[in-house]
Amino acid sequence: MVSHVSTIAFQGIEAVPVDVQVMVAPGKMGMQIVGLGDKAVAESRERVQAALHASGLSMPPKKVTVNLAPADLPKEGSHYDLPIALGLMAALGAVPGDALAGYVVLGELSLDGTVAAVNGVLPAAMGANAMGKGLICPHACGAEAAWASADIDILAPRSLIGLANHFRGTQVMSRPEPAIGPPPGRWPDLADIKGQESAKRALEVAAAGGHNLLMIGPPGAGKSMLAQRLPSILPPLVPRELLEVSMIASIAGELADGKLSDRRPFRAPHHSASMAAIVGGGLKARPGEASLSHHGVLFLDELPEFSPQVLDSLRQPLETAECVIARANHRISYPARIQLVAAMNPCRCGRAGEPGHRCLRGPRCQTDYQARISGPLLDRIDLRIEVPAVSAGDLVGAARAETSAAVAVRVAHARALQQQRYTALGLPGWTTNAACSAALIEEIVPLDADGMALIRDASEKLGFSARAYHRVLKVARTLADLDGADSVARIHLAEAISYRMAGDRMAHAA
Ligand SMILES: Nc1ncnc2c1ncn2[C@@H]1O[C@H](COP(=O)(O)OP(=O)(O)O)[C@@H](O)[C@H]1O
Ligand SMILES: [Mg+2]
Repeated sequence: MVSHVSTIAFQGIEAVPVDVQVMVAPGKMGMQIVGLGDKAVAESRERVQAALHASGLSMPPKKVTVNLAPADLPKEGSHYDLPIALGLMAALGAVPGDALAGYVVLGELSLDGTVAAVNGVLPAAMGANAMGKGLICPHACGAEAAWASADIDILAPRSLIGLANHFRGTQVMSRPEPAIGPPPGRWPDLADIKGQESAKRALEVAAAGGHNLLMIGPPGAGKSMLAQRLPSILPPLVPRELLEVSMIASIAGELADGKLSDRRPFRAPHHSASMAAIVGGGLKARPGEASLSHHGVLFLDELPEFSPQVLDSLRQPLETAECVIARANHRISYPARIQLVAAMNPCRCGRAGEPGHRCLRGPRCQTDYQARISGPLLDRIDLRIEVPAVSAGDLVGAARAETSAAVAVRVAHARALQQQRYTALGLPGWTTNAACSAALIEEIVPLDADGMALIRDASEKLGFSARAYHRVLKVARTLADLDGADSVARIHLAEAISYRMAGDRMAHAA
């Protein structure tokens, strides 16, 4: 007799149905698992046998064959333990096979029969819900699974025995409740930064429209400080974004206690990070920092110190909002709608451009350093600003600046206008001007003769690419949204163009 249990395999954040078939037949005693499993799946045999033993069930003196179908789909991870054990228990009559039919099952087993937490429970629950089934998952992940839908049936047992008792009706388990993470600890506040008004303005514009931002300035100017305060002015995630962000975090095993949070991700990988760490990949095709920053901020401090390959690998996600990991026999993609924020010194010694300073290596100090950032990457950065150093004298006795809370109100207002606009256009998935397509932005930013002349002039002088032109329009739209203006005026265009100048000076120096 063959018993069947449904489980899933992950392809990106998508859950692909997998059928676990267990057959107990006369033959040499032992257990074999087939179906293109990785090492963790092969080792599942030992865990399942030990867990069954600990739960008071001995292996039958027969041949046990486990097949994970479809047989040509690669299976990775330790979450196949529980479905295999349940399939075997059903084949032995320890649990009713038909009771399992309505569930998708995933979980890892410890040798003592307890069910240990696994990654990816939220996407699995969403997948199960779409298939019209319930979910059996580890107790520790129950709160996470409950987010998938208010009425999906969830069993979150602590142990194999607990689950068997539930099916026998001797100890009924209750449905876990969705849990929300602790309220965010206080972010550092913009009020700590004295002066730097134009840098703060650029930060506000970046937050309002989701634009990419590059800050160039000498060491100690406060670039890292500014970037770290960006999360304090960003609006919280909307529910649809919250689920997407949490699914990626779930696959990566970064959801603490299965609790979700509506804070926008802010990731700041170190500059020694590899390409796999940033765009994803590696042995298990894990999501990288770019995907973990989905709907949030990826902050790259000391930008030229990242390896050029890593930086160039970000070009594709910045354009298409997804990271694609190509494998020998399949390809996986993770969403990555990111806002890139970067900071750099103007040259290796950090003081190029300061009045009276001459780098020891001459102008090459600056050109060599800045040439590490390719033109195509720079082209994708809408706002580039120079952050000059503030002198210690300026800090002494300076008045306390505007707080993050005050700026966040303006940002939230501008975002609400954008959301209304794109929802009215039938594009509810877009919530920022940065996400708008090139064709549409030309439509929603009609230029008058004056505006056209200004742009034509600027693009002749600065040599705008087509992409740069569209990005200027997007920034101008955001500036108008911040002003609460219906149409984009010359003043908005002029400010948007000015944000590309710092970088163009840089590109010409390179
Ligand atoms: N505008 C400012 N207001 C208050 N403190 C500042 C300001 N700029 C720099 N600082 C001080 O300088 C330190 C270094 O700033 P940081 O952001 O690390 O500089 P950078 O990243 O540009 O090298 C900060 O921790 C802070 O103490
Ligand atoms: Mg710094």
